[in-house]
Amino acid sequence: MSQNTTPATIAEKIQHMEKFLDLEKFINGDKNDPKDIESYYKTNHAAYRRVHSKAGFMHFHVSKDGKTFSPEDASYQPDVAAQFIKSGDRVLELGSGQGANILHLAKKFPDVTFDGLDLFPGKMAEELPNLTITKQDYTQMPQFADNTFDVIYAIETLVHCSDKLKVFAEIKRVLKPGGIFVVFDYALKNAYESYDRENQLAVSLISKGGAAALIESVAEWEDFFAKTGFAVVSKKDLTEPIMPDLRRLEHRAACILDHPFRAKVVFKTLPNQFVSNIILGYLGADSAAEGAIVYKEWVLKKD
Ligand SMILES: C[S@@+](CC[C@H](N)C(=O)[O-])C[C@H]1O[C@@H](n2cnc3c(N)ncnc32)[C@H](O)[C@@H]1O
Repeated sequence: MSQNTTPATIAEKIQHMEKFLDLEKFINGDKNDPKDIESYYKTNHAAYRRVHSKAGFMHFHVSKDGKTFSPEDASYQPDVAAQFIKSGDRVLELGSGQGANILHLAKKFPDVTFDGLDLFPGKMAEELPNLTITKQDYTQMPQFADNTFDVIYAIETLVHCSDKLKVFAEIKRVLKPGGIFVVFDYALKNAYESYDRENQLAVSLISKGGAAALIESVAEWEDFFAKTGFAVVSKKDLTEPIMPDLRRLEHRAACILDHPFRAKVVFKTLPNQFVSNIILGYLGADSAAEGAIVYKEWVLKKD
């Protein structure tokens, strides 16, 4: 590849990054500890606002026409959860982030009580009487009795959990029998071991880049759901409609990482947790286009 060619595949991007970064060394180190997740979001708070959404949505936008990115598309995920919410319900958001989803829903359903839990909750733009946000690790929720919630939803947050069986069991405990659990997250299309070296490295860098546990396959996620007593009501693959957002993020990351000198300066001067997020943006679109990573919507019911 000549110096001026833009790396356009995972293999090319990995070869290119190996020129200025020891990838194996960069990947090493466990980032599943809640303290690391919290500091990752603290470090990237402003970048999320600037790059993802000014309104505070911290997830991929699901494009309506599949071709263009629009800030309006950020409400796709909470609007799916909305389909299962009824008057008088109690609803919980796991990993509510800067609060954009829960605020959107709490305004839509004034007679529904909403709780949001996050390790690093953003400052809410508005306060509503039917909405409580608590700074808390949702892997343990002792304040909530068994069978408390009608609907629980989690948008791009469970990927952080390395012990999904334990977390799903806790979620099941606080969900009412017949209650709905809505999950949006990214997963591997196939088992990690089935990928070639470059795609394995890309997946590890993306996991590291998002302070996630090593991303599990769709089959592994669904096995965890079944083992903890959740039945799949419906599921969708949303990889295509998030592509415009992934390409947008890739373009921004490429402005730095396509240029070894700029990349070296950025890696030397900025915190690791910030730089790793840029790597996620750089690799995410091609990893999805090459069929390694997929974006899923699951609607589940407590058995
Ligand atoms: C990618 S952001 C998504 C935020 C929000 N769901 C949204 O769609 O805008 C993931 C969020 O999950 C939170 N998080 C991750 N692990 C958590 C845990 N164990 N307990 C509470 N919050 C957690 C992070 O602090 C972060 O705000």
